Amino acid sequence: MATDVHRPVNHQVTEEPTAGASTAEGTEAATELKPKAKAEAPRPAQAVRVEGLTRSFDGRAVIDDLRLDVRAGEFVALLGRSGCGKSTLLRILAGLDRDIEGTVLVPRRKAVAFQAPRLMPWKKVWRNVLLGLPGKPARAVADQALGEVGLSHRTDAWPKTLSGGEAQRASLARALVREPDLLLLDEPFGALDALTRIKAQRLVGELWQRRGCAVLLVTHDVEEAVLLADRVLVMDQGVIAHEQTIDLDRPRDITDPRFAEIRGQLLERLGVDTAAEAA
Ligand SMILES: Nc1ncnc2c1ncn2[C@@H]1O[C@H](COP(=O)(O)OP(=O)(O)OP(=O)(O)O)[C@@H](O)[C@H]1O
Ligand SMILES: [Mg+2]
Repeated sequence: MATDVHRPVNHQVTEEPTAGASTAEGTEAATELKPKAKAEAPRPAQAVRVEGLTRSFDGRAVIDDLRLDVRAGEFVALLGRSGCGKSTLLRILAGLDRDIEGTVLVPRRKAVAFQAPRLMPWKKVWRNVLLGLPGKPARAVADQALGEVGLSHRTDAWPKTLSGGEAQRASLARALVREPDLLLLDEPFGALDALTRIKAQRLVGELWQRRGCAVLLVTHDVEEAVLLADRVLVMDQGVIAHEQTIDLDRPRDITDPRFAEIRGQLLERLGVDTAAEAA
């Protein structure tokens, strides 16, 4: 797994990237499509390492000396009140924002999916999936990823003819063709109705187990976080203020009393009055 170093503007990066990694500055997500055998290659233990990360807007530090580690293949969910800096952190990890202080080490192969699917309306679904990939990737690459998300029947469709859930799955397929070691998801199910959302959550869980990549999922939904993640983080005041390992067996059962207990603890951390919620 090659490592991308996001060099901060005001701070010297002292960390060495993982052995065999590219240290080239600004080499953004240069995705090469490799055969599936890649999955067998040994992975370094760490997918993300962030130390002393600070990001300010107009003199206000939204992220303030933040530390974060994500293990290779780990599923991490990130919670926090609106405006606390979750998307800012995700954009930095994705390499979309480099105006930072501190150290950020991420895999070179990473992909991001946002709440809005962001499909180009003038390109058919399969062409959207391949958008931005280097070279001339074969259509079969898109077809395979679309098959994985259950959209084989919509590869030739125009984006405007897709339902919300289908568009979101197309967006996931676009992330998958990058064969990411790190998948960054910013509220990808936020706009979906309850039933479609449950199906999409299940799909992401299956894709993660099949692909074995690290996932960082930003969500407002505590239940979703406990359902999917190995570890749930709560962001507050510019740092990771709380973390909780979810040691429940998979597939998880939301009616399990331990599930409810963990959910309650996290809601409390988020400042939600669970007694009032139950009333
Ligand atoms: N480009 C920018 N310029 C100025 N301020 C910004 C910019 N981007 C983000 N901010 C501010 O940084 C803070 C954190 O924003 P961010 O989008 O990261 O929050 P969030 O935790 O993702 O919120 P939400 O849950 O509502 O999506 C907000 O106060 C926002 O206004
Ligand atoms: Mg956000």
